[in-house]
Amino acid sequence: MQNTKAIKDSIKHSELSHNPIFTEDHALDEFDEKLNLLNKETDINKQLLIVRQMQEIAKNVSALRGWPYNAKVFWGKEAVFWKQRIGQKYRVFIKNELTTAVNKNKLDKNKLDKNKLDKNKLDSGSTILELGTGNIPCIKNAVCLDLSHEMLATIGLPNMGNKTTIKRVQANVEYSLPIRDNCIDTIVALFLCNYIERLDIMLGECKRVLKENGQIIIVQSAAAVDNYHSLLERHPAKELTLILKTILQELGFKAQIDVKDVDKKTLVFIAATNS
Ligand SMILES: C[S@@+](CC[C@H](N)C(=O)[O-])C[C@H]1O[C@@H](n2cnc3c(N)ncnc32)[C@H](O)[C@@H]1O
Repeated sequence: MQNTKAIKDSIKHSELSHNPIFTEDHALDEFDEKLNLLNKETDINKQLLIVRQMQEIAKNVSALRGWPYNAKVFWGKEAVFWKQRIGQKYRVFIKNELTTAVNKNKLDKNKLDKNKLDKNKLDSGSTILELGTGNIPCIKNAVCLDLSHEMLATIGLPNMGNKTTIKRVQANVEYSLPIRDNCIDTIVALFLCNYIERLDIMLGECKRVLKENGQIIIVQSAAAVDNYHSLLERHPAKELTLILKTILQELGFKAQIDVKDVDKKTLVFIAATNS
């Protein structure tokens, strides 16, 4: 069995010849079948072998060109599978932690009486921006920003009802955000930063759009990604917290780091205030 690194390298560098017998439709079907298979496979080496086959198919389909290294194409295809990736108990835990952090910031900022705030609800008067939302926003009234149209198009929340309008923005956090200066109270980014090469640009943009004393809350898994998503990772888990803390401090944020165990996972919460 080839080791994981060797397979990853060969995926990166393989230049097998173009196969002219596929029509694009046939190739798309074949790609989707393999993507299904890939998502059922648990062994990373077998996953990477399937990835190599899919990479060959992707070369023949314009809509898939660049998969898996083109992030827009990659996350577009992940949209179908994303909803099942992170268990409900982690989602509930994260939402409770975010609620507490946002309310605490609100109290500190406005010197409010804590008894007047509903501890279980995020303040509806705040403008909250969720970066890399995927198709499961963590916060009901947030502005959902994502690179992938497919993720944004498949957003759904239980109990949202017909009255809730989802605000969606398609944008790349590694470029200027299409958002005015100084207008956001809270930014959250869940399981995003390990996939972002230019975290300095992303966090610089967060600084620009946040109000004074606004807050950014970043949530990451403390463990390395151990499936084919690791192909897109730009920063290993063990270095990410320090990288984020350094950039945030350079930008003048006051950052606080909390590590929390939830079931079998360890999550890192970074809360930084724009001071
Ligand atoms: C691992 S998923 C996390 C999704 C969501 N935050 C959650 O917790 O379910 C990463 C998300 O970030 C988005 N993303 C990746 N790179 C991005 C970029 N450069 N700009 C904006 N969004 C990006 C992907 O499209 C994907 O929806």
